Amino acid sequence: MTDSTARTVAPATGKLGVLCVGLGAVASTFIAGVELARRGMARPTGALSQLATIRLGKRTDGRSPLIKDFVPITPLDDLVFGAWDPVPDDGYRSCLHCGVFDKHEHVEPIREFLEGITPMPAVFDQQYVKRLEGKNVKTGTSKRDLAEQLRTDIREFKKTHGVERCVMVWCASTEVFIVPGPVHQSIEAFEAGMEANDPAIAPSQLYAWAAIKEGVPFANGAPNLTCDFPAMVDLAKREGVAIGGKDFKTGQTMLKTVLAPMFKARMLGVAGWYSTNILGNRDGEVLDDPESFKTKEESKLGVLEHILQPQLYPELYGHMYHKVRINYYPPRGDNKEGWDNIDIFGWCGYPMQIKVDFLCRDSILAAPLVLDLALFFDLAQRAGMSGVQEWLSFYFKSPQTAPGLYPEHDLFIQQTKLKNTLRWMMGEEMITHLGQEYYQES
Ligand SMILES: NC(=O)c1ccc[n+]([C@@H]2O[C@H](COP(=O)([O-])OP(=O)(O)OC[C@H]3O[C@@H](n4cnc5c(N)ncnc54)[C@H](O)[C@@H]3O)[C@@H](O)[C@H]2O)c1
Repeated sequence: MTDSTARTVAPATGKLGVLCVGLGAVASTFIAGVELARRGMARPTGALSQLATIRLGKRTDGRSPLIKDFVPITPLDDLVFGAWDPVPDDGYRSCLHCGVFDKHEHVEPIREFLEGITPMPAVFDQQYVKRLEGKNVKTGTSKRDLAEQLRTDIREFKKTHGVERCVMVWCASTEVFIVPGPVHQSIEAFEAGMEANDPAIAPSQLYAWAAIKEGVPFANGAPNLTCDFPAMVDLAKREGVAIGGKDFKTGQTMLKTVLAPMFKARMLGVAGWYSTNILGNRDGEVLDDPESFKTKEESKLGVLEHILQPQLYPELYGHMYHKVRINYYPPRGDNKEGWDNIDIFGWCGYPMQIKVDFLCRDSILAAPLVLDLALFFDLAQRAGMSGVQEWLSFYFKSPQTAPGLYPEHDLFIQQTKLKNTLRWMMGEEMITHLGQEYYQES
């Protein structure tokens, strides 16, 4: 049954520019993967926007279209890619450097296409990413000036590529930990801070500001303080732009947000959760710096507190010891290994252990998230949904929410929220899973 409250969603006409901040492992794997999918050389596995169906109406109705047939998202053929990076490698060189895709099977056949993705000079400052040096960098008279240059880049990109709309996704390195300060509290204070080169304004914030000012939705795939403070949220609302973040939820944290709800659902206690990772890509090198690691650690640690609610269940979760480590270990490259040791307890307090060893591929897990985020943020924008897009928290380790609202971390609650939002957008009934109607006598 449809209802008349469907939102008006502008059609996905013309081309959509996907602007990646950073052209490293995640961004190059995303861009190359989309091109491989367009040529029928690989499947976009992991992308809900391409593969998932959505149930509409009752279980007995038999209506389960693909999401991409149900909501008007931009077809893959209409995506055009751009990027900024302080490292001047084009898409081809970046793919080879990162070593995620097989050179012969997946990189060489699309070499020409990848060589066409050349990074624009970045707004970059080593103060905020200590373990990185870059030559392909903008210079300017102030942070404001640099942000204005990004706005010009966006306009030029649109013109050169004949693009109707853009969306920006932060796929760049994790910046150092920044606590929100006075400069982040209002649009006026932030803009004055840009003029005055306030050190609390990191490059990522300049990209977010430039995107919003250009009417371009912005998604933050890293844990840095970028668009999750009052000035940026107010600006997004004022300009009518969709924003959200933060930190792609891919490997270990995705598992945590599946396992922890299970323990809580069955009222099993958790005494400790020790998580450690080894990875050897550039992201691992950047995170080897304690200040960037601190940003990541905060993002990873919050999840269990919120899911397990120790304040409601002090006996089960009040004394839990939670530790997260990330170790840079070059031989593994992008193929991260994440171990979890979980000490749980059950009936009458008897202890048990669970060990998880996830031999994953970081960028293979993250790339489909970039695609979904780009397509869904563009959809939200066309549906007139501005400000924080909490319905896309499914993709983030630290979902951005309205002030005072705790985030939902449970992966399946997030999935329900995402699908119900799509139903709501298109005027279809929400699915509550109540199901009494199947058992009523007629
Ligand atoms: N892969 C995953 O599973 C995953 C999950 C969650 C979050 N992330 C985050 O995604 C981001 C990208 O990861 P990656 O593996 O591609 O890292 P990467 O190091 O391979 O790529 C990051 C790129 O960003 C560039 N960069 C740094 N500062 C920049 C700036 N100011 N402007 C433009 N470019 C800039 C770097 O030069 C580099 O090429 C990291 O912050 C990472 O923590 C990744």
